[in-house]
Amino acid sequence: MKRIFSGVQPTGDFHLGNYLGAVRNWVALQRDFDCIYCIVDLHALTVQPEPVRLASRTREVAAAYIAAGVDPKRCIIFNQSMVSGHAELSWVLSCHTPLGWLNRMTQFKDKAGKHKDNAVLGLYGYPVLMAADILLYKATHVPVGEDQKQHLELSRDIAGAFNHHYGKDVFPLPEPQIFGVATRIMSLRDATKKMSSSDPSDASRINMTDDADTIAAKVRKAKTDPEPLPGDVKGLENRPEAANLVAIYAALAETTKEQALAPHAGAQFSSFKNALVDLAVSKLAPITSEMKRLMSDPASIDAILRDGAERASAIADKTLREVKDLIGLVVP
Ligand code: TRP
Repeated sequence: MKRIFSGVQPTGDFHLGNYLGAVRNWVALQRDFDCIYCIVDLHALTVQPEPVRLASRTREVAAAYIAAGVDPKRCIIFNQSMVSGHAELSWVLSCHTPLGWLNRMTQFKDKAGKHKDNAVLGLYGYPVLMAADILLYKATHVPVGEDQKQHLELSRDIAGAFNHHYGKDVFPLPEPQIFGVATRIMSLRDATKKMSSSDPSDASRINMTDDADTIAAKVRKAKTDPEPLPGDVKGLENRPEAANLVAIYAALAETTKEQALAPHAGAQFSSFKNALVDLAVSKLAPITSEMKRLMSDPASIDAILRDGAERASAIADKTLREVKDLIGLVVP
């Protein structure tokens, strides 16, 4: 049986890139697989968020999962810090992870910037915690975007090193779960960068809690080039802004870029943007309103998280006992 594990960090606003690039795909997976979807609040600590914001964003991400169609009965939805096994297994795995492997991680290099000595240990160890998330549940498949592939590769290496060291196939080597059309949504202000909650410009992203007017304003302000839309997908090459808007349109309409482009070939961006605004508002409004309804009742979100954490713990505890016993930690 395939077991899926994935997670989103509650570090910023839940945006269109999180939805189209990740969570929407999770909904389809829940039909056929055993799915565990986590809100990785321990990972969020690496950037020292304000406590009140971290709590509200954790609930917001949970609300977004559910509003997007992830069913808390069929799947396990929980926040990472509620299952202590993540931190425990992370320590064990860190004792099997050579520094050289971590030194290769490009995300750490990007995030740490020039002053590596000031970067915190948690940021450096982040990929080990991610490996622990996955391996704690013996997940076999992990839906991740392009930017997390290197971390997933490291998870496989750590699992392999651990299994080899103790001479037992404790952990399956997790595989990336690739989707038909990879959806990588880029910033509306700079299409060479991923749409991200850490971008200081709010206009760079569409947040899932944005109302219709805000969505319209952001799409109309989105950066484009002066040329009209091309007649086919080939014409989007070397036009990152145009390619991004067409990709967003196609993803929202659940169609191909060719088909999204066809009715607009040769048109100006202003008319295409109008169509994109209408589409985005009609597709996102039901999710936004469901998110807001859920967030107005935090106790109900907490009940879902508590139930998820209990079910997750049942699986995690079994793995942890197996691991502890194998490595010589006494489990009396
Ligand atoms: N690092 C992932 C991201 O930023 C989030 C994450 C943490 C994750 N643990 C995970 C994703 C385990 C998949 C599986 O997107």
